[in-house]
Amino acid sequence: MVAIFLFLLITQFSTTIAQERNLNISLASSLSPKKNSYWLSSSGQFAVGFYKKDNGFALGIWMEAIQQKTVIWTANRDDPPLPQDVNLNFSSDGMNIFTQNQGLQTTVINAPQQSAFSASMLDTGNFVLYNSSSMIIWQSFDFPTDTILPGQRLLANKNLVSSISETNHASGKFQLIMQGDGNLVQYPTSNPKPENAYWNSETSTAGEKVSLNLDGNGRLYLLNTTGLIVKRFHGIGRLSNKTVYRLTIGFDGILRLYSHSLNQGDDWVSEWSPTSNRCDPIGLCGPNSYCTLLDQEPVCTCPPGFGFIDQEQKILGCKRNFSTDGCISQNRDTFALRELERIAWEDNAYSNITSSKADCREDCLMDCNCDVVLFKDQLCRKQMLPLRYGRMQDGDQGGTTIIKVGVIRKERKKHLPIILFGSVTILAGELDKLVKDEEVERNKLERMVRVGLWCIQDESSLRPPIKKVVLMLEGTVEIPAPPSPASFLSSMEVN
Ligand SMILES: *[C@@H]1O[C@H](CO)[C@@H](O)[C@H](O)[C@H]1NC(C)=O
Ligand SMILES: *[C@@H]1O[C@H](CO)[C@@H](O)[C@H](O)[C@H]1NC(C)=O
Ligand SMILES: *[C@@H]1O[C@H](CO)[C@@H](O)[C@H](O)[C@H]1NC(C)=O
Ligand SMILES: *[C@@H]1O[C@H](CO)[C@@H](O)[C@H](O)[C@H]1NC(C)=O
Ligand SMILES: *[C@@H]1O[C@H](CO)[C@@H](O)[C@H](O)[C@H]1NC(C)=O
Ligand SMILES: *[C@@H]1O[C@H](CO)[C@@H](O)[C@H](O)[C@H]1NC(C)=O
Ligand SMILES: *[C@@H]1O[C@H](CO)[C@@H](O)[C@H](O)[C@H]1NC(C)=O
Repeated sequence: MVAIFLFLLITQFSTTIAQERNLNISLASSLSPKKNSYWLSSSGQFAVGFYKKDNGFALGIWMEAIQQKTVIWTANRDDPPLPQDVNLNFSSDGMNIFTQNQGLQTTVINAPQQSAFSASMLDTGNFVLYNSSSMIIWQSFDFPTDTILPGQRLLANKNLVSSISETNHASGKFQLIMQGDGNLVQYPTSNPKPENAYWNSETSTAGEKVSLNLDGNGRLYLLNTTGLIVKRFHGIGRLSNKTVYRLTIGFDGILRLYSHSLNQGDDWVSEWSPTSNRCDPIGLCGPNSYCTLLDQEPVCTCPPGFGFIDQEQKILGCKRNFSTDGCISQNRDTFALRELERIAWEDNAYSNITSSKADCREDCLMDCNCDVVLFKDQLCRKQMLPLRYGRMQDGDQGGTTIIKVGVIRKERKKHLPIILFGSVTILAGELDKLVKDEEVERNKLERMVRVGLWCIQDESSLRPPIKKVVLMLEGTVEIPAPPSPASFLSSMEVN
């Protein structure tokens, strides 16, 4: 371990020496997207300047010496694209962007306290500002976006945030946090709660000020304040001289350590990743949709009764394709239930009860607030839309998702009052008259009519509890002959 540690020191020292060969950007230098749009590092490996973003430009750092120019840092990444007529001007207070007509647009780099004197794009990928004693007063390595490079550290309480897409480097849905407790954790950007962590390094007892480090040989590890390695992720003791590395949290939420050969035309190769299931990143698919794997690729899918908000952008999520307006509790005719297995969701239950699956289903069907139930281990957790964070789980960790869907059953509704009236003469063996040409199971119909009559008793204490109703409908218990609901009938006659 000591040998490795010494080696690390030597590598870092040698990068410091390399810095001396760098191009020197002097005060009053400027860039514009139209003319000289970037500054190169001395070897030409890295560039800082304007790159294309949508119909305008962004200011950032990218790898220039390879065919697949790769952006590794962007200034003010969430700002709208810059127009073509801007200038980046370097002055003692930092780097500012001016437009020809409107003057100061944005401050890209704010020199802290001290006056800047020169700047340099280093061969390490670090863009730095110096003061007049050639000391670094600002460096891009201190403000990582979605990537760290060899020699760069992710310090305690700092994070990497994914980009929106391969070409849009604004803040995306996922983050990697080097937590103050020493644990390195991946979360959805908008909701970094412990229960939403989808990967962690299991080093939460490693102490304060642990940092994530990547070196020039692709070794990735956590260091504590004593300078000792807390955990190694990749490249144990290996020396490689042929490749460049980067650690990036992808727009798909997966953290990957990439290498690239010095052969320009080659592509990035993923050397290491902590996540093998590409549905693991929580929130990859939008509201009311869930992630499944198709040939190892994540695919966003709508549950039954739902359709994509935008067919062209399935990642935006799904919406219900029927209306629940006018839902009347206990109206069994307009809704049915569908089940999905092995899909996990965020649990936002407004009610949770212990029950059998059959009772759970019935409970949801009779409850207008209930859009979906997450059922697992006899726990019936009723949910309202939107559902979030849906994804396929290995094994049966996800339990059963029971979804209320709209059904179109013609004819049914208009018979309902007839059944109620007719059933009084038993809802006298005149059942046949009720159903006419519809094919029904006689026993079932009689049960339903009887249960119906029990349920409309004026005297509420006579009405059976819902659990009993279910058992009655199933035929599990005997249904006694119901008393005649006299007042009900008279009220119907008045109308
Ligand atoms: C910014 O730089 C451009 C190009 O060198 C120059 O024309 C312009 O006057 C500068 N603007 C300011 C405010 O210094
Ligand atoms: C440059 O920065 C270093 C380190 O912060 C500081 O010690 C030094 O005094 C600065 N030089 C000037 C001229 O401000
Ligand atoms: C940059 O150039 C200026 C003169 O143009 C010089 O005084 C300064 O020392 C140089 N800085 C570095 C870091 O080489
Ligand atoms: C750093 O890690 C080493 C090895 O795990 C441990 O012995 C040491 O106490 C740690 N230092 C701190 C400050 O936690
Ligand atoms: C690494 O590359 C340098 C020059 O590019 C070469 O001199 C050195 O021998 C190489 N080392 C290894 C271990 O390949
Ligand atoms: C709703 O979607 C389901 C598929 O999930 C489909 O069978 C049904 O016909 C759709 N209903 C409407 C009204 O589009
Ligand atoms: C559901 O149960 C969990 C414990 O299993 C509890 O923490 C939560 O508050 C309950 N939610 C509701 C709405 O009752």
